[in-house]
Amino acid sequence: MVFYAFPEGFQWGVATAAYQIEGAVQEDGRGVTIWDTFVRQPGRVLGGDTGDVACDHYHRFREDVELMAGLGIQTYRFSLAWARILPFGRGAVNEAGLAFYDRLVDALLERGIEPAVTLYHWDLPQALQDIGGWTNRSVTDAFAEYAKLVFDRFGDRVKRWITLNEPIVFTGEGYRSGRMAPGIRDLGAYSRAVHHALLAHGKAVRVFREGGYAGEIGITNANTFYEPADDAPETAAAVELARDFDTRLFHGPVFGRGYPASVVKFFAERGVPFPIEAGDMAVIATPTDFLGVNLYSRALIQPANNSVGFAGAPPRLPLLPMGYEAAPHSLGAFVRWVSKEYGRPRIYITENGVCDNTEPDASGVVDDRTRQELLRGFLVGLNEAIAEGCDVRAYYQWSLMDNFEWAFGYSKRFGIVYTDYGTLARIPKRSAEMYAEIIRRNGLEA
Ligand code: FCB
Repeated sequence: MVFYAFPEGFQWGVATAAYQIEGAVQEDGRGVTIWDTFVRQPGRVLGGDTGDVACDHYHRFREDVELMAGLGIQTYRFSLAWARILPFGRGAVNEAGLAFYDRLVDALLERGIEPAVTLYHWDLPQALQDIGGWTNRSVTDAFAEYAKLVFDRFGDRVKRWITLNEPIVFTGEGYRSGRMAPGIRDLGAYSRAVHHALLAHGKAVRVFREGGYAGEIGITNANTFYEPADDAPETAAAVELARDFDTRLFHGPVFGRGYPASVVKFFAERGVPFPIEAGDMAVIATPTDFLGVNLYSRALIQPANNSVGFAGAPPRLPLLPMGYEAAPHSLGAFVRWVSKEYGRPRIYITENGVCDNTEPDASGVVDDRTRQELLRGFLVGLNEAIAEGCDVRAYYQWSLMDNFEWAFGYSKRFGIVYTDYGTLARIPKRSAEMYAEIIRRNGLEA
């Protein structure tokens, strides 16, 4: 057994998102979001589940803050529901929505937990979808106005801001595959949504800089660690293409390198180029303070005779209920790659976690062994990447508690705390005890 110590000052947190936990969708003037609409369309969400109640965090947030304090959580990443604050996306402000987040932020600070706030975790106000959502350039201005409003209101207490959560997912699944809200399947809508999401990010960062707010701002991307299925040079080339169409598509512009040439060509040849206007790429490249990294797994890549030139190869590791491989080495490996690729940025692991659907046993204990084992593996890899010089300063476990897992409804459990959806009781799992111990010792034995 070796003790893997994390650097002094390393922060341990948990992450959630508004639509996945809050519930109370019609309360206190909250506007309708694209997820409220989507969940009501037959066949969109497994079991017809909705976020109407979710974990009822809107009413139980004090209990949840106590739960976090009890585990020793040092920082809490959550998202603001844009439509609680601006029910129609822009214009009229809903004071009750702002007041809810005031209470949450204050409760966190009273317990010594640092808030880390995501501005957009997929719940676009429906009124903005009605004008085309992220395909409409004016939504980028609405986002900048919303950002200014919340920086002004919470900037005295919130010092860590994340503009967007996983633009590849909400654009790709929302506008290309249609598997997530708003459920559109259109390549041209996708290329517009990608560019406008990044532009909105850049505009919000500019607002933050120009307003002189204290604290730091960055973006969170979704990542997969791509690995070659074999040693052939064509396979190595296919891996680079996979990185272009995923990682570099969103990191490149933010780090001032523009869109990958392969992706630009792909969209241009299909008559749906990115709708870039003069000055856009400079706005998107406005320097950030950190990179938010979400990572859950890896994918094996092989060359393919399709429009993009690569495809996933059959998995070789055990599969988790979400369908992806149990690949604990992927976190450290990705961090090393991204750190090298982009000149050693400051990194926060804004999400990492495990789907483990273990239920309480007869005595009510939830012994989620797969999560415990993989969590240890992820953290050992991360620790080694830090020892090699990657500048990682915080780690957020997804998620505090089981919650509404988007198109999978409540069928996938990611919490270190079990949510009983009948009673809404929260039951800390064995992984929560383990995580509390890791936090106490600022490291782990493995
Ligand atoms: C990420 C999302 C988060 C959650 C986890 C499991 O892609 O950001 O909301 O669904 O996956």
